[in-house]
Amino acid sequence: MRWQFVYLMLVLFFHARHTITAFQQDDSWDYILFVQHWPITVCMKWMDNSSNNSCTISPNYQWTVHGSWPTKIGTDGPQYCNSSWHFNMTEIESIEGELEQYWTNVEANTPLSSFWEYEWRKHGTCALNLEPLEGEFNYFNQAIAWTKNFSIGDILSAHGIHPDGSGYSIQQIHDAIQSTLGVNPVIECEVHGKPKMSLLSEIRLCFNKSLNLIDCDIDKMHYLFLDEYLYDLEDGQILTDCSLKRPIMYFGQIPHFENTIKDEELEERQQFLTQLRKIYQFLHLLIWLT
Ligand SMILES: *[C@@H]1O[C@H](CO)[C@@H](O)[C@H](O)[C@H]1NC(C)=O
Ligand SMILES: *[C@@H]1O[C@H](CO)[C@@H](O)[C@H](O)[C@H]1NC(C)=O
Ligand SMILES: *[C@@H]1O[C@H](CO)[C@@H](O)[C@H](O)[C@H]1NC(C)=O
Ligand SMILES: *[C@@H]1O[C@H](CO)[C@@H](O)[C@H](O)[C@H]1NC(C)=O
Ligand SMILES: *[C@@H]1O[C@H](CO)[C@@H](O)[C@H](O)[C@H]1NC(C)=O
Ligand SMILES: *[C@@H]1O[C@H](CO)[C@@H](O)[C@H](O)[C@H]1NC(C)=O
Repeated sequence: MRWQFVYLMLVLFFHARHTITAFQQDDSWDYILFVQHWPITVCMKWMDNSSNNSCTISPNYQWTVHGSWPTKIGTDGPQYCNSSWHFNMTEIESIEGELEQYWTNVEANTPLSSFWEYEWRKHGTCALNLEPLEGEFNYFNQAIAWTKNFSIGDILSAHGIHPDGSGYSIQQIHDAIQSTLGVNPVIECEVHGKPKMSLLSEIRLCFNKSLNLIDCDIDKMHYLFLDEYLYDLEDGQILTDCSLKRPIMYFGQIPHFENTIKDEELEERQQFLTQLRKIYQFLHLLIWLT
């Protein structure tokens, strides 16, 4: 009887220990992935998602912050490190104007601060053990400093890459960033429309814990190449999920031809309905006659 009891206690103890370990999250990280995105592309994808979605794009829009992500080598985490560290708008009130300009929420039909709150909960609460990034104010303020200092729009236009609706090669975009900053970025695209287009979407830069720019490289980010990130050119120095076959489109405004396509579709549908109505009326007449 007693032995059975001891055995049961031992089993319970090890089981509990195992469960606790399994739930303990490793929140350590090695470098920061600092992500800037192009509002026109963000808007096009947002509007693709639902006909109810609309965008806020300021008249003098530029590349803006998507997020600042503490990252452990070989993973895309940690994430959501402290659910009780609530987002508090008051903490960043003094830089709200700058956030609106440099960390813009393009999604017009969502609350202004929802984008900041999301990034804070998912990534900001993980930026621990590094004083210049710790806490809401530091976390957001550092990203604003970076986006001002490493202006993607200026870098690209200095290399003849303008948001004029033309297509560029991944090599051109990579070389512009690499030759200016001296480090490898990650270049991200979104796929849009029929036939499929590649839209330039994000430029990601890597910073080490001294907040110096460092190369983003495959060894740090090998997870990138597990599924959709299949493309690495020649020596593997270009980290991207963009198409290597299609030109990479860099639009300066929402392209107008989309509306034209929609109007045409609408017209076709209208004609189809008119024909249906005629057939219906004809059948009705037949029934009435017989
Ligand atoms: C699009 O909508 C789906 C479902 O509502 C959502 O899960 C997804 O995150 C949305 N994507 C974007 C880019 O907003
Ligand atoms: C758009 O909003 C209307 C009204 O709120 C809703 O009934 C409809 O389902 C929405 N459409 C989409 C595609 O989300
Ligand atoms: C989570 O955040 C709360 C609020 O800032 C803080 O009191 C708590 O110590 C944090 N927990 C951990 C594990 O860091
Ligand atoms: C939000 O931050 C302000 C300024 O730091 C502070 O006074 C206030 O107590 C905080 N509110 C909450 C709910 O934590
Ligand atoms: C701004 O960028 C330059 C190089 O482009 C770098 O030398 C400088 O340290 C950066 N400043 C900050 C605050 O990141
Ligand atoms: C960050 O990178 C700089 C420049 O390469 C280097 O001097 C510094 O030692 C690095 N810091 C850390 C913590 O790795």
